[in-house]
Amino acid sequence: MSTHKIAVIPGDGIGNEVVPAAVDCLERIAELHSLNLEFTYFEWGSEYYSRHGRMMAADGLDQLAKHDAIFLGAVGSPEVPDAESLWGLLIPIRREFQQYINLRPVKTLDGVTSPLAAKEPIDLLIVRENNEGEYSEVGGRMYRGQPEECAMQTTVFTRLGVLRAAHYAARLAASRRGQLTSATKSNGIVHTMPFWDEVVAEAVREYPDVTLTSELVDALAAHLVLKPWTLDVIVASNLFGDILSDLGSAATGSIGLAPSANLNPEGDFPSLFEPVHGSAPDIAGKGLANPVGQIWSGAMMLEHLGHPEAGAHLQAGFESALRDGLGTRDVGGTSSTAEFTAAVLSAIDALAGNYADSAAATAKP
Ligand code: NAI
Ligand code: MG
Repeated sequence: MSTHKIAVIPGDGIGNEVVPAAVDCLERIAELHSLNLEFTYFEWGSEYYSRHGRMMAADGLDQLAKHDAIFLGAVGSPEVPDAESLWGLLIPIRREFQQYINLRPVKTLDGVTSPLAAKEPIDLLIVRENNEGEYSEVGGRMYRGQPEECAMQTTVFTRLGVLRAAHYAARLAASRRGQLTSATKSNGIVHTMPFWDEVVAEAVREYPDVTLTSELVDALAAHLVLKPWTLDVIVASNLFGDILSDLGSAATGSIGLAPSANLNPEGDFPSLFEPVHGSAPDIAGKGLANPVGQIWSGAMMLEHLGHPEAGAHLQAGFESALRDGLGTRDVGGTSSTAEFTAAVLSAIDALAGNYADSAAATAKP
């Protein structure tokens, strides 16, 4: 039996609702596929901050490093400045563990109504550069409170950082429809974005089966609304990828659906799996949160840990519950988080026979 140590950080707000829902589903899948998932919980986040003045333990990264993967809900609370919550937990994990790829699938799901008029199915992947770019620590503020007050923040692109994101995205495109779209803004941002364009093009030249299109990010935003089904893989800087992935998930129906993987592709450090959405304080504690983004992130985690069958089984489980119209309110249904999760668990059981390595399948005569 393969054993994996998973560090679980439910975090704030609806993280405490969607993480338990997804862990229930992961436990059921583990049972059916003879996996041993050892979950260790870390109560870090904004409440921890209010007691300790920091978002996670001082040796938090060392504790996390002992795990095979990290499963995060969301962090952020109206009581803590967002810059503290993000830079005190998520960004250090992404950077110190060299999780330089943020992979965000955007896909139409049966049973979920898209706000777009055209109903062509969407199936694209966003590869967001996750370690540098616009989210840099270079900058500062001067003359606070004075009329001369100013703030500066410098975007940092390194050849290594852009190359590795572009190579990862090109390999993905080569395994799919061969179309890679790079988000740029080289007309307005005249130093860093032309550099991004040059380095992306240099990397993609090594993939003869991949066609690279460079699109200005504003036009690409419109493209995502008007004809998203024509997009295959998008490679984007940290900020552009962040924005485009919320837009993409909204185009498929709800931000509550979108999963993400923060990957250290070399496996030198644990990778982190989390939904794209935040802690949603407006609906927290009401049982309204859609756990699909979290469950789907769990499916990506299983695949990353070397269990693609188990991941596909979990994915088929939530897709089936959505197809049956059992979704939460944000996708047009009436289910609570708990009701939807129960529907996913039933679908997982019902589908067990379709997965070769599942215990239920092998038990069949
Ligand atoms: P948000 O994603 O938390 O919420 C945006 C809107 O989408 C809200 O109306 C919310 O109710 C809805 N929504 C989000 N997830 C949902 C789900 N699973 N089911 C149903 N509806 C859902 O973004 P917002 O409001 O900008 O940020 C709230 C807090 O979360 C802030 O403190 C922010 O910094 C933090 N945040 C944290 C992230 C992370 O931990 N990776 C990512 C984004 C925001
Ligand atoms: Mg975001």
